[in-house]
Amino acid sequence: MAKPRVGILFGGRSGEHEVSLLSAASVLNAIDKTKYEVVPIGITKEGHWVTAEHAERLLKGEAADRSVRPTEEKHLRAGDPEATPGAAVLATGEAAVVPPEPAHRDAGLAPFQTDASALRRAADRAINVDVIFPVLHGTFGEDGTIQGLLELADIAYVGAGVLGSAAGMDKDIMKSLFRDAGLPIVKHVTVLRGQWERAPKKVQKLVENKLKYPVFVKPANLGSSVGISKAHDRTELGPSIEEAAKFDRKIVIEEGVGGKKHRAREIECSVLGNDDPKASVAGEIIPCKEFYDYDAKYLVEGSEAVIPAKITKAEMKTVQKLAIAAFQAVDCKGLARVDFLMEPGVQKKSRKIFVNEINTMPGFTAISMYPKLWAASGVSYPELIDRLIQLGIERHADKKRNQYSR
Ligand SMILES: Nc1ncnc2c1ncn2[C@@H]1O[C@H](COP(=O)(O)OP(=O)(O)O)[C@@H](O)[C@H]1O
Ligand SMILES: [Mg+2]
Repeated sequence: MAKPRVGILFGGRSGEHEVSLLSAASVLNAIDKTKYEVVPIGITKEGHWVTAEHAERLLKGEAADRSVRPTEEKHLRAGDPEATPGAAVLATGEAAVVPPEPAHRDAGLAPFQTDASALRRAADRAINVDVIFPVLHGTFGEDGTIQGLLELADIAYVGAGVLGSAAGMDKDIMKSLFRDAGLPIVKHVTVLRGQWERAPKKVQKLVENKLKYPVFVKPANLGSSVGISKAHDRTELGPSIEEAAKFDRKIVIEEGVGGKKHRAREIECSVLGNDDPKASVAGEIIPCKEFYDYDAKYLVEGSEAVIPAKITKAEMKTVQKLAIAAFQAVDCKGLARVDFLMEPGVQKKSRKIFVNEINTMPGFTAISMYPKLWAASGVSYPELIDRLIQLGIERHADKKRNQYSR
């Protein structure tokens, strides 16, 4: 039997393009090549789809090695060309096109046309893949758009579907679903950009009536802390909203956990599965800055990951239970990392734990939190990739059982 062909999608138009290159290089390096045939497919920052022979270099992990060696925990710098050999593929690869229509398959294969101008000659230029691993973060990768394209093309893929991806991307909708499922969330207010522009005083009142400073101001749809600020008082509220409004028409404002004097503890938990998801041990991130902003995530060294998190057994259980419930609340599939904010305080005293957000395609280098939490729970990185591919295939097969008309 032929090996299943796995398309690894990487890059993309989001602000997390570089992070995706790092994640994909790691996946390409670790995926079991005795079991799968691998087809790397890049998306440039401009949105062109490319593939290339010399993407083979990525597969061998030649230049990628240094960024993925687990013993040498180098802090991954976004945009670091040495750590992101995928950039070369994006610069020189041939164009590829995914037609948004189901392929006429033999043996369940779906074609990609590698020459944009030759859709008519598709057959002789086709690359067949059985399943796609969209190693894409953020906008157009994690928000349901690429998932929609893959649904139209009827290709199996790793991770959440259209709804789960879109819901997990939108912090406002996500919170509604969490609240509906009875999960503890931080007090918040959602305002529209237009509402702020028309009546800033009214918005300020709305915020101050419901929340205490400091507040966190966030664009509803983004990631990597881009556009997020902590407003310590009224004078900082306006500029924070203006900043968030550059990135989205919907702005989420929420009360800062930890209050004026302390910082929230940041607990993260990995979830894996489809209809019967399991949670890993939880870990803790200790940011090197006042909060876990873009710089602390990708640019400056010093943020720390503690695995397992130093919390009580009961708290660990709670976090794991909430992580699975959050996964189900947004109808997630395959994988997700669920992030929590916890009140600081002395152990054993009750400290509140809030579900902050779900990431449906979390950072996925071998040393990223999602795989590290699974490694600490007994699932190795290559095994994790294998399980995710299988889950994607299973989900696709399950969907195939649905009738679309009677
Ligand atoms: N309500 C809050 N209280 C305390 N810290 C917060 C709060 N909301 C966000 N933060 C800080 O901001 C960071 C980024 O916020 P988050 O909602 O996780 O956005 P992103 O999707 O960009 O990661 C968090 O990791 C945390 O450090
Ligand atoms: Mg976050």
